[in-house]
Amino acid sequence: MDIYETVIKRRSIREFKDIPVPYDTLERCVNAARLAPTAGNRQLCEYIIVDDEQLLPQVLNAVDSWFGMPRPREGWSPGRRPKAYIVTLINTELEAARGISRTDTNYDVGMAVENMALIDLEQGLGSCVLTGIAQDKLRQVLNIPDKYEIAIMLALGFSDESPVLEIATNSVERWVDSKGVRHIPKRKLEDIMHRNKFPQRQG
Ligand SMILES: Cc1cc2nc3c(=O)[nH]c(=O)nc-3n(C[C@H](O)[C@H](O)[C@H](O)COP(=O)(O)O)c2cc1C
Repeated sequence: MDIYETVIKRRSIREFKDIPVPYDTLERCVNAARLAPTAGNRQLCEYIIVDDEQLLPQVLNAVDSWFGMPRPREGWSPGRRPKAYIVTLINTELEAARGISRTDTNYDVGMAVENMALIDLEQGLGSCVLTGIAQDKLRQVLNIPDKYEIAIMLALGFSDESPVLEIATNSVERWVDSKGVRHIPKRKLEDIMHRNKFPQRQG
């Protein structure tokens, strides 16, 4: 897959096959995150790969938002749960020492996580970015020291769903049809793209 194709194909995946994820594919994702652009090359993010079968259900328990709902409609169907997670952390000690604004740190996190999502897809997997996380619960389960802030968690596995892209008109509300297929409306290119100047304001 070339990069454009990978980017266009990427959809958030929340249903997974009951197949473990090879550790080296997860490591490649983190390596791709490591090399993402960072403001001032300050590199504040660190990552936890979670693939221990004992831990997976506990981590899932810390997920509060799943496709806009507190839990999937069908409950946590065991065979279809994420098979691994990568938690992106902000090292706040480094952040203070290296004098970076929180806005830039947040941009860094986004860049790193998108790298992971794309490399994950290129390796035949699927993923979903999660920020709806019960942070205290997750911190406890993974023994995350206080100096780290939990930013984003990526849920991963071999995809077992095919979300469908839709054209958003008035609404960007997503929906699930009677066959359980997720539909994801995106704004049209001409609605979001501007060229050169905006027209002169009147008055
Ligand atoms: C910053 C961020 C936070 C997100 N948090 C969640 C989340 O907590 N739970 C969830 O199910 N999806 C979450 N998502 C995934 C979005 O719901 C998804 O990207 C959006 O519906 C568009 O679908 P797509 O990724 O397939 O294009 C998050 C995405 C981003 C970028």
